[in-house]
Amino acid sequence: MSQLPAVLITGASTGIGAIYADRFARRGHDLVLVARDIARMEAVAGRLRQETGVTIDILQADLTQPADLAKVETRLRDDAHIGILVNNAGTAIGGTFVEQSTDDMSRLVALNTTALVRLASAIAPRLAKVGEGAIVNIGSVVGLAPEFGMSVYGATKAFVLFLSQGLDLELGPKGVYVQAVLPATTRTEIWEHVGADVNAMNNVMEVADLVDAALVGFDRREPVTIPPLHDAGQWDAFDAARKAMLGNLVNALPAERYRRLA
Ligand SMILES: NC(=O)c1ccc[n+]([C@@H]2O[C@H](COP(=O)([O-])OP(=O)(O)OC[C@H]3O[C@@H](n4cnc5c(N)ncnc54)[C@H](OP(=O)(O)O)[C@@H]3O)[C@@H](O)[C@H]2O)c1
Repeated sequence: MSQLPAVLITGASTGIGAIYADRFARRGHDLVLVARDIARMEAVAGRLRQETGVTIDILQADLTQPADLAKVETRLRDDAHIGILVNNAGTAIGGTFVEQSTDDMSRLVALNTTALVRLASAIAPRLAKVGEGAIVNIGSVVGLAPEFGMSVYGATKAFVLFLSQGLDLELGPKGVYVQAVLPATTRTEIWEHVGADVNAMNNVMEVADLVDAALVGFDRREPVTIPPLHDAGQWDAFDAARKAMLGNLVNALPAERYRRLA
């Protein structure tokens, strides 16, 4: 067993999660891989065990199913070796709001938000108690941009960003690092699930570049890491504009513009 904290990664069977598994294994961390496709996780784990010698457990779970989710929550609560959670599992659905089925939206929200917050909630008290550890939440730049036209997906990712920023404020002083990672278009299978051809898109980031950049942010203990945004000053200005409003958001009287003329 590695002396380093073990890392539980959701959505580790492919895409961004599988590369996180690769990178943390190469850093010497034991892993717990979570996803539905056990054969794919076995393939990732088999290769990494051989190449790195770390211990890798596999937990098969459909994180939209409460019983499966509870199994992962229990592991996060009880296994003191796990010190890092990578909340990566997520999906997207194609079409516009009126075309998408209510049930598909509900499953999307369950995976991208409910599962993510439940898993964070399962591990956070233990990490706060020992005063160390990390929670990495994979959001998306779509969560900043209703203009990109993925309203429900984007709303789940706005949730991920807000939650991460709130948890950073709450858990940071207790020694627990919380990072939101906001990828843009990255070459993974997620695009097949929305019925889009990623090879026909512009400005697609390779998944290894995305994860390696996110890990630079992780090592710097950045609260929000946006690998595709070249001008970090734009994020700083956006965040500063939001913070500048804070002192003005709570008032007893409605603003002048909402007062009716007698
Ligand atoms: N690729 C992009 O362009 C992009 C951009 C911004 C943000 N992101 C975010 O990055 C994260 C990873 O996405 P990706 O691009 O790597 O997608 P991906 O290649 O489709 O991988 C998604 C992972 O989540 C797992 N997963 C899906 N549904 C699940 C469920 N119900 N229960 C448990 N695991 C489930 C999948 O495994 P199984 O099928 O084996 O369950 C897979 O391992 C997501 O949160 C996504 O929103 C991606």
